[in-house]
Amino acid sequence: MKRRILLVACLVGVCAAPLAAQTPRETKLYAQLALTPPMGWNSWNKFACNVSEQLIRETADAMVANGMRDAGYVYVNIDDCWQVSRDSLGFIQADPQRFPSGMKALADYVHSKGLKLGVYSDAGWRTCAGRPGTRGHEFQDAKSYAAWGVDYLKFDWCNTDNLNAHGAYQTMSAALRQAGRPIVFSLCEWGSNKAWTWAKDIGHLWRTTGDITARFEGTVDHGTWKSLSAMAILDLQQGLRQYAGPGHWNDPDMLEVGNGMKVNEDRAHFTMWSMLAAPLIAGNDIAHMTPETRAILTNTEVIAIDQDSLGVQGLQYSASDSVEIWFKPLANGDWAMTVLNRRTTPQRVVFDWKKQEVSDSLSGRATHFASTVYRLRDLWADKDVGSTSRPLAVEVPPQDVLALRLRRQK
Ligand code: GLA
Repeated sequence: MKRRILLVACLVGVCAAPLAAQTPRETKLYAQLALTPPMGWNSWNKFACNVSEQLIRETADAMVANGMRDAGYVYVNIDDCWQVSRDSLGFIQADPQRFPSGMKALADYVHSKGLKLGVYSDAGWRTCAGRPGTRGHEFQDAKSYAAWGVDYLKFDWCNTDNLNAHGAYQTMSAALRQAGRPIVFSLCEWGSNKAWTWAKDIGHLWRTTGDITARFEGTVDHGTWKSLSAMAILDLQQGLRQYAGPGHWNDPDMLEVGNGMKVNEDRAHFTMWSMLAAPLIAGNDIAHMTPETRAILTNTEVIAIDQDSLGVQGLQYSASDSVEIWFKPLANGDWAMTVLNRRTTPQRVVFDWKKQEVSDSLSGRATHFASTVYRLRDLWADKDVGSTSRPLAVEVPPQDVLALRLRRQK
């Protein structure tokens, strides 16, 4: 009965979206949908509006053939431009030219490959690319997505006029929960309303910044808006780590690996996203990528840092002369450590473990380097490289990383 009242209230446009309509079991299932940061692929960074069922099928096929699925990538997400109109009853329609078999058939295909399908919409009346948005159709669209077999929704924030972000995302969250299918909810309000402060129980991930672009440093000015390099986005993550954890993640935007940066830059970008426990959503043409790009995206030891079950976002331990040292506490007492060289020249780094100590009040973990010895695993060289019993002395190439897993000796 409660649910019927909620639905009627929402249809007449006064939806307050009380989440209490869910049973405790439903609430728990929803909360458990993203216990580690979601992994997958999204069409936008490479293909923008040029999406079709053929692209999605090819991408799903490639994810199986190239080892990405086995490395943990699950979601195949169609971003903006799959939708063209609403029918006379208000139901959202996929572009019949580009998706002639329909969304249900596409979801079935993606599921048959052991993968999951994602779609995109917008809280406003139009999406960022001018397609029909969801405003006023939240419960109806959620029902359509569930009926098609959609598993993930990215929900954008263009053309929202004076909408209240918290309320708008809460309404869509309630709609998804009532649609009768577990759907990961990805908030995309670019950090304009600090979603990290209110979205923990609304969705599973929230964008923390404006859009990424395939550059290592700097920003690109488009007049009314700016797109951000990987390092510009990294700098904007300061102060956010306490908001992330199992089930709810900071999202520094989708990956640009394979979209035009140098291999070392891609490697640094991918490593830092893993240190941030960021969602790993590839954004390149994975059906036609180079072996170097593939090797980065499928480095399972780096992915394991991102996907670590403790779910603690990494911390910047030091930053000096554009050389940054980051640590991330991992389950079972291990740590990840990354030395990031942002300079365009090689940098020699000496790290005398016995004189350093990482103490993380967020996780309550400390390295105890003075009394604990860790074995060191170089995650990109794929080899063991000694232990913390001797100081680390390395040269990190320009705009690249040294990524280590510190294994506590038993
Ligand atoms: C916004 C989002 C992007 C992408 C586009 C699609 O800019 O931030 O990630 O979804 O819209 O139009």
